[in-house]
Amino acid sequence: MHKIYVTYPFPDGWLSLLNGKVEIEVQPKNQFLSSNELGERLKNKDGAIVLLSDKIDKTVLNKAKNLKVISNYAVGHDNIDINEAKKRGIIVTNTPDILTNATAELTVCLIFTLIRRIIESREFLRLGKFTGWEPDLLLGYELKGKLVGILGVGRIGTEVSRKLHALGAEIVYYDSSKKKEFEKETEAKKKDLKWILNNADIISIHLPLTKDTHHLIDEKELSLMKETAFLINTGRGSIINESALADALRLGKIGGAALDVFEHEPGVNPHLLRLKNVVVTPHIGSATYRARKGMAEIACKNLLAALEGEEPLYRVV
Ligand code: GLV
Ligand code: GLV
Repeated sequence: MHKIYVTYPFPDGWLSLLNGKVEIEVQPKNQFLSSNELGERLKNKDGAIVLLSDKIDKTVLNKAKNLKVISNYAVGHDNIDINEAKKRGIIVTNTPDILTNATAELTVCLIFTLIRRIIESREFLRLGKFTGWEPDLLLGYELKGKLVGILGVGRIGTEVSRKLHALGAEIVYYDSSKKKEFEKETEAKKKDLKWILNNADIISIHLPLTKDTHHLIDEKELSLMKETAFLINTGRGSIINESALADALRLGKIGGAALDVFEHEPGVNPHLLRLKNVVVTPHIGSATYRARKGMAEIACKNLLAALEGEEPLYRVV
């Protein structure tokens, strides 16, 4: 039987597809392991199911000599050194599609939470400040008619655009290629990044994290945004220079931000936790029962297929 390591004690039944098919060792609790430690645990394993918080680097791969497949429990795979895996002939798989809607819905939710000041409003009530209805109390903005810039129209960026288009927003997008079908469906227009930064009322990030997108939004880019513009990120934290963003928000250079992902998770820049015009959530984009259970099922299927020499449902490399 193939030997498998799973880096998280998933809820009962989520990995039941593996029962009787592989010999499983489960990490008893969610903890950060150094590359050396993780490498030790994977030493004699044929396969692994890992989280986006597990960094699978060269050190890990050098120790994991028997490893044939890494089944990443995520769509993003920036946590894995893909080139090193490829060199060793290790198959890497991920779990797209099943989490697209959940993540797109969270994005829309964050936009409304930010522009209608929901967190501030709740705090206002909680602190006993509500002394009566007032015409100009906690005014915000409407999404309808706003220009929204979508950075990256893969699966999630596309679904976010569909939902925002249905709600009356105008969509512009930044992507390496022109998407004809997408444009027809959402009336979106392709623009360059600078144009979007200069003109959009809301900018939402849906690019993968790569060398090229690391700090794509830095001090200079933030300075090009409108003073009233809102920045949303449900992709990967490091696409934004988080400390430059905290400065821009603190100095009122942009209108606000809603962030589900951070550059140094689980750490968050303390300014972002304090500012009124910032909404933060702890990387819960795909955190619905449907998506997270579905991801587990797909991670199992990917793993088993790879071990049995079949083509996995979703193969990265
Ligand atoms: C979540 O961030 C994922 O990549 O699945
Ligand atoms: C008002 O709703 C505005 O969006 O400016």
